[in-house]
Amino acid sequence: MKILVTASCSEGLVLPLVPISWALRSAGHEVLVAAPANMASVVTDAGLAFVASGPPVEMPEVLSFDRQGNRVPMPSGEENLLPHIGRGYARLAVRLLEGVRSVAERWRPDLIVTETYGFVGPLVAARLGIPWIEQGMRLSSPAAITAAGAGELGPELAELGLTDLPAAALSLDLCPPGLRREDLPGSMRMRFVPYNGRMENLPGWVLEERERPRVCLTFGTRVPLNRSPIRGGFSLLEELIHRLPGLGAEVVVAASDAVVRDLGPLPEGVRAAAQLPLHQILPACDMIVHHGGVGTTLTALAAGVPQLTIPVIAEVWESARLLVASGAGRQIAFADATADAIADNAAALLRDPSYGEKARLLRDQLVSLPSPAEAVRTIERL
Ligand code: TYD
Repeated sequence: MKILVTASCSEGLVLPLVPISWALRSAGHEVLVAAPANMASVVTDAGLAFVASGPPVEMPEVLSFDRQGNRVPMPSGEENLLPHIGRGYARLAVRLLEGVRSVAERWRPDLIVTETYGFVGPLVAARLGIPWIEQGMRLSSPAAITAAGAGELGPELAELGLTDLPAAALSLDLCPPGLRREDLPGSMRMRFVPYNGRMENLPGWVLEERERPRVCLTFGTRVPLNRSPIRGGFSLLEELIHRLPGLGAEVVVAASDAVVRDLGPLPEGVRAAAQLPLHQILPACDMIVHHGGVGTTLTALAAGVPQLTIPVIAEVWESARLLVASGAGRQIAFADATADAIADNAAALLRDPSYGEKARLLRDQLVSLPSPAEAVRTIERL
């Protein structure tokens, strides 16, 4: 088969598409990844063929401006934030539609693979009359986001003679049953195989025996940027590198080189991982403090590491609730996330072995789910 993978505009949304892309490729299928130009090196670093679906774009642009370019105020409350995010993903799809459509009409794929809110995938699948596969990435994907996205895409759907987005032929659900017991309709559970970006050489400290507990601290690729519309991410990170060593723990900061440079000299007991892939770092850590990003959450689950999550974006709040309900972690709302509150919760997590036990149980469940290679066999039979 020829399979077009349509990806969105940040590492967080592109990296989880890599394992299924490689599983398809390894089974002999042709795979082409279409993503905005700013994702070119993320895709080619993964050894996959890339075609630009449009010029560089970032989520804040499509979230903050409507189709006419008018500023959209950020609402408050989960019930308003989820539709706001859905409309943002829809505007991203509109930006990428022409690019993906033109690639698809020339390359003629048999199948499209995209992430849950990568609405350009189902739009182009409908135009070509081909099936599409949903790669789930969140532990739970709020339906309110999809509903609002479909609403915003009314004109594009009408052009196709549709009133709603076409259903996926299959959804790949990465949530282990210990976090959500119910199977989602039309889905198969798949093992999350971590891929966090280009590999570096494994530094020696990862394999050395540690004398103190080790805490990984990350706010992902976007939240710590000074240009991020999420105010306070960088300064909270800065406060935490001074506060967390006070727990008697060694701290590993996973952030880009630019963010680490802005943090200045690191205090005693803090090490920068220099954007090492998290799945290389986490097996050598006792817990992780993070911003609730999808790849970060899943990678910590796959490593069996307890998590203190400060979920920044409403689209992952439900995922954070599931994580906390499982007993494998704690959460603090970003709005209430002072360095003191985070340090207190991190200390509680380190003290109580039950969080680690639950996290390891979830890891064991996760690794026993069907692999991406097995998912490919199901896709081939569709
Ligand atoms: P994600 O957790 O979804 O967060 P965000 O979209 O806010 O960046 O995605 C971040 C991905 O980048 C995830 O796969 C982890 C990876 N990553 C590392 O592996 N090491 C790092 O130092 C950083 C900053 C990110």
